Amino acid sequence: MSTKTTTQSSPGSAAPQTGAALEISDTRTGTSYNIPIALSGTEGDTAIRTMDLRKIKETKEDFGLLSYDPAFMNTASCQSAITFIDGDKGILRYRGYPIEQLAEGATFLEVAWLLRNGELPTQKEYETWVHDITFHTYVHENIRKFLEGFRYDAHPMSMLCSTVAALSSFYPSAKNIFDKESRDISIVRLLAKVPTLAAFAYRHVKGLPIIYPDNDLSYTENFLSMIARMSEPKYEANPVFKRALEVLFILHADHEQNCSTSAVRAVGSSQVDPFSAIAAGIAALYGPLHGGANEQVLHMISEIGHPKNIPAFIDEVKSGKGQRLMGFGHRVYKSYDPRARIVKQLADDVFKETGMDKDLEIALELERIALEDEYFVSRKLYPNVDFYTGLIYRSMAFPTEFFTVLFAVARTAGWLAQWEEMLLDKEQKIARPRQIYVGPAEREYSSGLTNKAPRARKDSLRK
Ligand code: ACO
Repeated sequence: MSTKTTTQSSPGSAAPQTGAALEISDTRTGTSYNIPIALSGTEGDTAIRTMDLRKIKETKEDFGLLSYDPAFMNTASCQSAITFIDGDKGILRYRGYPIEQLAEGATFLEVAWLLRNGELPTQKEYETWVHDITFHTYVHENIRKFLEGFRYDAHPMSMLCSTVAALSSFYPSAKNIFDKESRDISIVRLLAKVPTLAAFAYRHVKGLPIIYPDNDLSYTENFLSMIARMSEPKYEANPVFKRALEVLFILHADHEQNCSTSAVRAVGSSQVDPFSAIAAGIAALYGPLHGGANEQVLHMISEIGHPKNIPAFIDEVKSGKGQRLMGFGHRVYKSYDPRARIVKQLADDVFKETGMDKDLEIALELERIALEDEYFVSRKLYPNVDFYTGLIYRSMAFPTEFFTVLFAVARTAGWLAQWEEMLLDKEQKIARPRQIYVGPAEREYSSGLTNKAPRARKDSLRK
């Protein structure tokens, strides 16, 4: 069989490696291809451009080779300068800054600025940013009326998702996404109003009167005020709770190309307004496999009920017959989730304030056993960020179904930064994956119906 070699060039690579390439030989045709390793990231990630594979054809008319990657397990969908994760080493950095340092010293709005702009703000930039966000926290009264239409037991994530999507109709100029001024104000509005909508949803579920934003308070204090204030003329947040919320918001602000961020990027790539794109992110986060895990930790702990039941529970987890140990394991982190370490310290501070309870004792004992047990050690299953966050939120008196809402408030900062990065990336187009069609081949239409306009059966109305 004769072998011919074609060299495929790769347009617009970020950091081309001189000469580094894959030699691919197609056994169907005997043709060899040279596929450049066209991209390399700051921390050593490398990639080929999958479009280069399209040159690999069996016949001239052939569409070209696709790569098949359900759930994008090994596909880089973008080049991003925002967040870096090394799952093996347990590293998380925003714009190069270690999460531990940001959690220790930064404010959430400082981090939100950093995520969007790439650099820490100057004092003047920060003051303007805080001022602008503070003065856009109010929402149109119609949104409040709109919220009243929800049933008393509506899930707050449903309410948040719908009201953020509804905001799009209040700001039609937000559609001008390629105008920087329009993006600036949309980003400020979203960061300012998402906590207001989240708090309104909370008060609605509780049947409590709405508390309007207080512009004298900081971002997290104002949020706590809208949640918890009753008849007191001025709300004063517990400083430990205020700090805990600030740190938890920082830890949850971004996590590179996860499910909800990918949803924001994909929906945003259609050039829809940012309110609609962020609503898509909230919808993705709502799912129990994504933002809902911290709720599951609490359900698991209450099912265990007492520390004496832990060994039997662990045996059941290991047998694979029962549930998983919720709050353990991570798709990316194969060592200690760096956020979990910070959260554990935070939990100690909050529990000093609120007191230890039985559930915390169960959590500590579960963690101790799991970190020593061969089953968990050999599979590299460590506590993830969700293991302790639920316990912290609950001891701050947030209801379980509100945990994901808190996650969404914080993640809005990351979603917005990622959305803008996607828009300004010249290589991005509307997201549109390919498929491998496995349905029937072409066939003739021949209907088996005798009545093409049947009416609904009367009994179905009663069911
Ligand atoms: N408890 C018990 N066993 C587990 C757990 C767990 N929490 N997680 C993984 N395993 C076991 C699996 O059974 C499997 O064992 P096997 O090799 O004997 O079959 C092995 O570890 C690998 O598991 P995978 O499912 O392949 O790991 P994956 O990376 O796909 O899953 C996930 C990651 C979904 C997070 C998983 O660890 C899990 O279900 N954890 C519990 C839920 C949870 O805490 N989710 C929050 C994640 S953090 C976040 O989203 C913000």
